Amino acid sequence: MSRFVVTGASGLLGLNLSLKISANDEVLGIANTNPLIGLPFEIQVMDLVSDNFEKDVLETFNPDAVIHCAAIANLEECEKNPELANQTNAVVPGEIAYQCKKRDVKFVHISTDAVFDGKSGNYSELDRPNPLSVYAKTKRVGEENVQNQNPDAIIARVNFFGWSLSGTRSLGEFFVKNLLSRNPINGFIDVHFCPLYVSHLSELLLKMIHADLSGIYHVVSSDHMTKYEFGCAIADQFGLDQTLIYPISVSKSNLLAERSLNLTLSTKKLSTDLNLSVPTALTGIEQFYVDYHCGYAQKIRNYSIEN
Ligand SMILES: NC(=O)c1ccc[n+]([C@@H]2O[C@H](COP(=O)([O-])OP(=O)(O)OC[C@H]3O[C@@H](n4cnc5c(N)ncnc54)[C@H](OP(=O)(O)O)[C@@H]3O)[C@@H](O)[C@H]2O)c1
Repeated sequence: MSRFVVTGASGLLGLNLSLKISANDEVLGIANTNPLIGLPFEIQVMDLVSDNFEKDVLETFNPDAVIHCAAIANLEECEKNPELANQTNAVVPGEIAYQCKKRDVKFVHISTDAVFDGKSGNYSELDRPNPLSVYAKTKRVGEENVQNQNPDAIIARVNFFGWSLSGTRSLGEFFVKNLLSRNPINGFIDVHFCPLYVSHLSELLLKMIHADLSGIYHVVSSDHMTKYEFGCAIADQFGLDQTLIYPISVSKSNLLAERSLNLTLSTKKLSTDLNLSVPTALTGIEQFYVDYHCGYAQKIRNYSIEN
């Protein structure tokens, strides 16, 4: 049995990942402001910007691996508070990467597809990042800090969807919730991405650790679609009315942070190094639906003190 620390354990990825790990291994989840109850794993509340991770977590729990999912992942919030975004997304990852290197603890840093400007698409790990928003810029500096402090670290550039604590965190939940309530909503026809189901992402991250990979990897779905097509695929899978989704250009939205248009990434390096086929978004949407029908979405929500 291995010992894992997962930061951001109250977040969309961190919670789903921690639940998966806790089925076979020991996991300590780190949360900050979102209280959780009834979890099948231990949780520690701390602020990674101001508290002492090395002393309070690495020294006391003595993990084999740290998977760093914590971030200010809301793009609009980063635009409004760039200093906090910089501390959280850029400075903290470098510090934890350094502490893990010193103690020979495997470090996995979760980054983003948004490090690219989206002008060309089908990006490989060798392509040059050019982040546009505050969020993307701080995440890119986070990658550089991790690489400088810990060359053995895995840096996973991701994009994913799934069931979250609040029930509103992911784009998949946004479409299901609004379509179930028959609310008309917008779907962007000019934003292309590779959304991976969070359960598939969690499995891939664990395989990457097991294979002792290091360096940058694109860990997204092996197919791609627009955000509008993603919404329509969810509507189809859930038997909901896709005509409620209005196809618009992202330029017509009033979002604060600049979005990259073509964030399609190549997963060739990942599939070669792990010798497997990376799941598609469509397979993920099927599993998203199956999990919903098995009560998984509600199970996740029940871990929130607010539900
Ligand atoms: N969602 C996506 O599609 C997507 C796409 C690309 C990349 N990513 C990356 O994937 C990772 C996980 O994203 P997510 O969507 O799961 O994020 P999320 O749901 O917004 O959760 C963020 C987590 O970070 C924690 N956190 C924030 N500031 C903290 C601090 N100062 N100290 C301790 N914990 C702190 C939060 O804790 P509390 O809630 O308890 O305060 C929460 O658990 C992030 O690195 C993000 O940049 C996400």
